[in-house]
Amino acid sequence: MPSLRWSWVVAGIAALANAAFSQPKAETADGPVSYFKEIRPIFQQNCQGCHQPAKAQGGYIMTEFAELLKAGETGKPGIVPGKPEQSYLLDEIRVKDGQHEMPKNRDALTAKQFALVERWIKEGAKDDTPASAKEKVTVDEDHPHQYLSPPVVTSLAFSPNGKYLAVTGYHEVLLHTADGGKLEARLIGLSEQTRSIAFSPDGLWLAVAGGSPGRFGEIQIWNVEKRKLKVSAPVTFDTLSGVSWSPDGKLVAFGCTDNTVRAVDADTGKQVLQMGTHSDWVLTTTFSQDGLHLVSGGRDMTVKLTDVPTQRFIDNVTSITPGALKGGVMTIDRRPMKEKKMQKVPNDTPGAKPNVYDEIVSAGSDGTPRLYKMHREVKREIGDDSNKLKQFEPMPGRISCAKFNPAGDRFAATSSLDGKGEVSIYTIEPAKKLVCEKVSGPAYAVAWSPDGARIASAGFDGKVWIHDAATGKLVKEFTAVPITGKTAAK
Ligand code: HEC
Repeated sequence: MPSLRWSWVVAGIAALANAAFSQPKAETADGPVSYFKEIRPIFQQNCQGCHQPAKAQGGYIMTEFAELLKAGETGKPGIVPGKPEQSYLLDEIRVKDGQHEMPKNRDALTAKQFALVERWIKEGAKDDTPASAKEKVTVDEDHPHQYLSPPVVTSLAFSPNGKYLAVTGYHEVLLHTADGGKLEARLIGLSEQTRSIAFSPDGLWLAVAGGSPGRFGEIQIWNVEKRKLKVSAPVTFDTLSGVSWSPDGKLVAFGCTDNTVRAVDADTGKQVLQMGTHSDWVLTTTFSQDGLHLVSGGRDMTVKLTDVPTQRFIDNVTSITPGALKGGVMTIDRRPMKEKKMQKVPNDTPGAKPNVYDEIVSAGSDGTPRLYKMHREVKREIGDDSNKLKQFEPMPGRISCAKFNPAGDRFAATSSLDGKGEVSIYTIEPAKKLVCEKVSGPAYAVAWSPDGARIASAGFDGKVWIHDAATGKLVKEFTAVPITGKTAAK
């Protein structure tokens, strides 16, 4: 196998702080075209999803400058410096008679973008990436990241068939056996941060929301058994969070730092929903049982309801009365429950009338989990919090994750405060809290085994704790990533 296929480089962590990584500057007509500031962002947004080491379509990789000059399967070099007419890449992105080859099945680049790429090639296709951004660490399938210490775990999930426990790492998701006994596979992609992960309802796919801070956001969809990347969709210029699947497995929703909640088609990565009425970062999402509504929460302290077919904002699920808002919402989860028809829907609620009654748990910075009805049943009155059903005993600090058990009669939640953490299991009827034992640090993520017998949790110190869900006893503890003690590959 040619080494170029799997060998790739990414900017080191130190370089992330570099301001030059922020959003691409406006295209300018004067001065030489900058690869780093003008060309690279175009490739990142339009091409890299299909031309990266984990998914090198046409045998062509675009995530590293040196690869751009090489040839793909056709044998024609993508870029020949100074020679636009010999650069195959230009042929591919050129619009002829209203048709273009690349980006495949997507809108063509604008005439301005095309002209910029052409001019950059004509000017010698120089790589002006600053030295500070060139500090590189090799990360690929054959050379996974070498961990000196465990990274923070921000998300974990059991596969619905009970086979795997997936845990976030640096540049990857680690697939362990569900008992934590063995590391089975490492799913390595473009994003440095794999913030949030979720298995599809049928368990065949794993969705990953992540990105590289201040540079790009990405949704990855992996074929779990084949360990193959199916979709890599670029979204915004910052890390994404709070990934969730629609119950039919067709859509994947997530939150963005541009204050939007979005969803893509899980098959193609194409965006199908965008709702922009949040006023701060969106951190968490969950769909209604019938898939017609999407609930999102974020730093603006609100939980909002979106009508999926029309992408319209419908309602605030929680109270928006000043003073009633208590800290950012970091996690919401829909309660698994027997299908129950809505009795009544107030006639001042726009959008599709919900058929199915749903409940969600919501929690965040104020440390208090709350149970809400998803849909309003009475007319809104100023100051009401009419969807609220229950409030639970608080946890110390902020709650970053809350998840229902498969039966829907309990939920588990994780919190952090001053370098310490708590993992708790709440029963809903009666509302009671059981604190799990031996949690050694701030806890950020929790997941239920599909049989509901165990929970896995993890956080700041990179350890995964597996607790017996009935007793809160620690069953097993392990570090999610292999620690090599060596420095990263040169
Ligand atoms: C949705 C996936 C997708 C996207 C996005 C995409 N490509 Fe491609 N690209 C392909 C596939 C698949 C091929 C293989 C040929 C084919 O099927 O048309 C290919 C082939 C190529 C080749 C030819 C490689 C060779 O030598 O065979 C070039 C050059 C190329 N793409 C450039 C680009 C550029 C530039 C962009 C962004 C502007 C882009 N592609 C975006 C899927 C994609």
